[in-house]
Amino acid sequence: MGFRGSWANTHRATCRFHLPRGRLRPQPRLTPWEVQTVTTTTGLLRWAESKRQLLPRLAQFWQASDSRYVEPFAGSACLFFHLQPREAVLGDLNTDLMATYRTVRSSPDAVAARLSEMPSADEAFYYKMRDEVTSPLSAPDRAARFIYLNRYCFNGLYRTDLNGHFNVPFGGDRTGLLPSRSQLRKIAYRLRGQTLVNGDFGSTLRHVRQGDFVYLDPPYWVEGRRVFREYSSSVFAEGDLKRLKRWLTHLKERGIAFVLSYAHYRRARLLGR
Ligand SMILES: C[S@@+](CC[C@H](N)C(=O)[O-])C[C@H]1O[C@@H](n2cnc3c(N)ncnc32)[C@H](O)[C@@H]1O
Repeated sequence: MGFRGSWANTHRATCRFHLPRGRLRPQPRLTPWEVQTVTTTTGLLRWAESKRQLLPRLAQFWQASDSRYVEPFAGSACLFFHLQPREAVLGDLNTDLMATYRTVRSSPDAVAARLSEMPSADEAFYYKMRDEVTSPLSAPDRAARFIYLNRYCFNGLYRTDLNGHFNVPFGGDRTGLLPSRSQLRKIAYRLRGQTLVNGDFGSTLRHVRQGDFVYLDPPYWVEGRRVFREYSSSVFAEGDLKRLKRWLTHLKERGIAFVLSYAHYRRARLLGR
């Protein structure tokens, strides 16, 4: 029997975790110093429903002895960049996102060169980039476009129309700076040697081995409530939640430590039972 529990937080998200015997329990409260550590974290992207604000809390579940960090709903992967594990498996269904990570990993300087030619927080330029046909673009051009749109779009959303074209409006000019060459090099360094999976969470979870730590942050599916969940052309629905529940049971039976963050609503109980 391992330790199993949950905690609620101010972001109306609940975390459920399964920790095999022998693992440290997380602290019930955070000190002001721990809360401050959030500001020192660097990642590449903004992301809707990112758990950046919860990093100090989530980070407590990771142990230095864990062999690998696995995140099947990576998004901005802010916990990964915060923890800086030596080995990781990061996956996401979003093809443009995962292609961006791959390109930044292999060619940070080429992406930085493209970004350095782009004006910061320029609304007209944003819409010009948004309307661009992406198929003829080189990998660094595509990655730079993705990073630019992500930086200046509304609320870090990723949403496409039925043709798969990004359609989030401009989000104003208070969304920070584009990453510099040295920041992109750091991101590339963190991603080097890590396994990047573009696909459904099941294909990432198939990589899990004994001794791994898994963090799961799926899109919210809440019946009868409007909660943003359209990160790609497909929608995360009840069937996906049930599939995820089967995966959690499987991980638990294998004694794999995992933490799941999910909406703080009645439906989330489906995952916790
Ligand atoms: C709540 S966000 C993750 C946010 C991330 N924890 C962060 O801090 O940025 C959920 C992610 O799941 C991805 N996603 C949606 N459906 C998926 C699926 N079936 N398999 C894998 N990833 C999926 C979305 O593209 C999105 O990036």
